[in-house]
Amino acid sequence: MMRIADIHCHVLPYVDDGAQDWDESAELLKMQYEQGVRLVCCTPHLRKGMFEIPDKEILEQFGFLKEMAEKIFHGNLKVYLSREYYCDEAFLHRLEKNAVIPYGNGGYLLTEFSHRYTPEQFFEYVEKVINYGYRPLIAHVERYPELQDIEDIEELVRMGAKIQINAGSLLKMEGRQQARWAKKLLKEGLVHVVASDAHDVQTRTPELEKAAIYLEKKLGTEEAEKLLWKNQIQIMKSRRRIENGNN
Ligand SMILES: [Fe+2]
Repeated sequence: MMRIADIHCHVLPYVDDGAQDWDESAELLKMQYEQGVRLVCCTPHLRKGMFEIPDKEILEQFGFLKEMAEKIFHGNLKVYLSREYYCDEAFLHRLEKNAVIPYGNGGYLLTEFSHRYTPEQFFEYVEKVINYGYRPLIAHVERYPELQDIEDIEELVRMGAKIQINAGSLLKMEGRQQARWAKKLLKEGLVHVVASDAHDVQTRTPELEKAAIYLEKKLGTEEAEKLLWKNQIQIMKSRRRIENGNN
């Protein structure tokens, strides 16, 4: 079984539309673990007017989750915390105040976008995030109706963004068009991270083992390991680059 790092999921309970309670949270962690996941980074939503739980409360909840994971997995499952940031004006204010929880050592932020944004708006936000010294990991890139050209994804990558797709998209759990586009991006070598984006134990479940089998079959073991573990570790270890006076 392949070792997997899941760095986009909503397993922290009571903070967004993810896990409803501690039972569901434990269940999700167990499902991930059984599929080969050995590192989980919880990424609760932050979106003005929708998911606004402050970092302080998130950190407190995460403390409990860490204790729970320790009790269940005895150190065999590492858990970390970051957030999934919706790109809007409020997010830019946050960056200005440096009030974000990046991945691991501080280099990357998980960013999601409006379904109405044009490619130009994607470029603008990516540029701004980079100007603040972070690099964006673009959440489930296959989902955005206006972002359907290979050239636009290439440009985002050239700018310094990394690209994440959902495991479920590869398995046709999120519609045929999304599956087709996700697979095309994989084939073009434009995907860096496959993650579960798991929300619950019923419908938006972690499906990483199936995704691992698919990736290994299509791209070989080495490439599958990059998409499920190695690139994630690199993202966790990466540091913020503060050199442009925007700090
Ligand atoms: Fe998400």
